[in-house]
Amino acid sequence: MRLDVPRLDDLALDGKRVLVRVDFNVPQDEAGNITDDTRIRASLETIEAILQRQGKPVLMSHLGRPDGQVVEALRLKPVAKRLEELTKRKVIRLDESIGPAVEKAVASAPAGAIVLLENVRFHKGETKGDPKLAEAYARLGDVFVNDAFGTSHRAESSVSGPAAFLPAAAGRLLEREVVAFRRVLENPARPLVAILGGAKVSDKLPVVANLIPVCDAILIGGGMAYTFLKAQGEEVGASKLQADQLEAVKASLAAAAKRGCRILLPSDHVVAERFAADAPPSTVTQIPPGKLALDIGPETRGRYAAEIAKARTVVWNGPMGVFEWEAFRAGTAAVAEAVARAPGYTVVGGGDSVAAVELLGVAERVKHISTGGGASLELLGGKALPGIEALLKKPVARA
Ligand code: 3PG
Ligand code: MG
Repeated sequence: MRLDVPRLDDLALDGKRVLVRVDFNVPQDEAGNITDDTRIRASLETIEAILQRQGKPVLMSHLGRPDGQVVEALRLKPVAKRLEELTKRKVIRLDESIGPAVEKAVASAPAGAIVLLENVRFHKGETKGDPKLAEAYARLGDVFVNDAFGTSHRAESSVSGPAAFLPAAAGRLLEREVVAFRRVLENPARPLVAILGGAKVSDKLPVVANLIPVCDAILIGGGMAYTFLKAQGEEVGASKLQADQLEAVKASLAAAAKRGCRILLPSDHVVAERFAADAPPSTVTQIPPGKLALDIGPETRGRYAAEIAKARTVVWNGPMGVFEWEAFRAGTAAVAEAVARAPGYTVVGGGDSVAAVELLGVAERVKHISTGGGASLELLGGKALPGIEALLKKPVARA
């Protein structure tokens, strides 16, 4: 993974319009209140750095998936309000993101103010990566900064497009994220332990494949664990199973054995008769027919916690069970607590595991919490992210 990209500090900003792609795709409740503003707070360092150097920040983001239509509920109005509260600065919110009126509004924004463009996904070309649209955004800046780590796996106009038209650099958040993942994937302090969970094994197999050569151990939980157990000949009852992935899972087990990477699987389980919050739980070492496993059991929690305590680098993506339901939360809670206590360098990536560490109140004790779900999975899976690739094409200023 390369980060030989220009950095914010390499750009001349004084008096310049600084077009910044941020990821303000924050969750909202039905009334439109922001329920988690982590992504907005994570962008403040870049915004303040630009203002301090007398640049004029022009921010753009998507929100939700409006699919090329103007969707009133997906305007960035609540985001503008929160940004104003957090920065204590004037936020000039526009209801378009391109065109002469927007260019004029940007030109007349006073020094010290922040301009926020409208949801870029209101344009049809955005998710298709239309270069004409990228060029129209580029007219709003003298330089471009990508700070949208959470969207950098998307080859969309506002993410990977503007760097083709303007001097460009990585923002502070994007840089922090890539540095954290490099610390895991390149020359990590050993042992390196990965914890992988979540429902779908098919989503995680590319990550398993990419981590096997670098990890000392991979601890597996969540729905994906049962396809692994089945591949080893165990009965999994009515648990989540992706039968079409059994051969692929066998191949990864063989690859791990060959590379000396230990793959740990659950040895006991919290099972229930149905997939429901109020289904009575019981703990078993063998899953009986008709029952489905919804969490890792106490013995597994202890084994996993011991591995995490010994590790000098830990990366976690995906919950160990249905942590949203109290009866099936203990496995994810035990892993969260073990990660929080771990003396090593710890990274949590992925929407659900971040939600879990926050719900369980241990977020402060994790060394790096990623703002990207899909983006962090793709990085862990060894994929190149278009938002970063676009910056890699730019010349790097050398002191
Ligand atoms: C996310 O929250 O996953 C990013 O903001 C990207 O959004 P998307 O999944 O709708 O492309
Ligand atoms: Mg996503």
